[in-house]
Amino acid sequence: MKIHILTLFPSFFEGPFSCGIVGRAREKGLVEIRTVNIRDFTSDPYRSVDDYPFGGGSGMVMKVEPIWRAVESVRDGKELVILLTPQGRTFTQKLARELSQCEHLVIICGRYKGVDERVTSFVDMELSIGDYVLSGGEPAAVVLVDAVVRLLPGAVGDKDSVDTDSFERNLLEAPLYTRPREFMGMKVPEILLSGNHEEIRKWRMKESLKRTLERRPDLLEHAELTEEEKKILEKLKEEKDGPHSCI
Ligand code: ADE
Repeated sequence: MKIHILTLFPSFFEGPFSCGIVGRAREKGLVEIRTVNIRDFTSDPYRSVDDYPFGGGSGMVMKVEPIWRAVESVRDGKELVILLTPQGRTFTQKLARELSQCEHLVIICGRYKGVDERVTSFVDMELSIGDYVLSGGEPAAVVLVDAVVRLLPGAVGDKDSVDTDSFERNLLEAPLYTRPREFMGMKVPEILLSGNHEEIRKWRMKESLKRTLERRPDLLEHAELTEEEKKILEKLKEEKDGPHSCI
């Protein structure tokens, strides 16, 4: 996969993309990530990338021409052009999976108050990483690239650890423990030490459903549950609601 990040701050990405899973994926040649400085595509002596909004109002607006030229400079006919903006569609794990199938992502990081609306005429997708406003698209690009790159085959050593991630099936993951067996009086659940794989599988399934029901019941509306999971969920709901009274 090839990723181009169009930004006014290329140095922002030096740290995040040189370590961890993304850093290793680059070393292994699974992904090639390049930053493109939008300022290099200005045509005036001041190299200006922003201007006052027509019609007045506060803040500066990123100009359309430098962004257009920067995008044109990286097009290869296989690109998917993404604009990061709080006004975009919300980025999800499902979308991360879809994007991980793409050959070439071009990510535009907005700044200032926003970008000239005409930028949207040459992007394929507008994405937001959540309902809050960042000072620019750069932190959002780090989030997007991380979520996508770790899904590339070979990026994460143990494939299973990606497939059982929270959100992969619209279910939160069951609690995890490692040594020591006891910390400040808090013990690891006995079942996890039992060596009984079938019982551990059932326990994890129940805890995953319980956690999702408690913390993110909205996810359950989209989860495709097995018959076994459906039965457990019904029981959990009954326990949660308590005994039904006839009065
Ligand atoms: N730029 C500013 N805020 C953003 C957000 N929430 N998502 C994506 N890009 C942004």
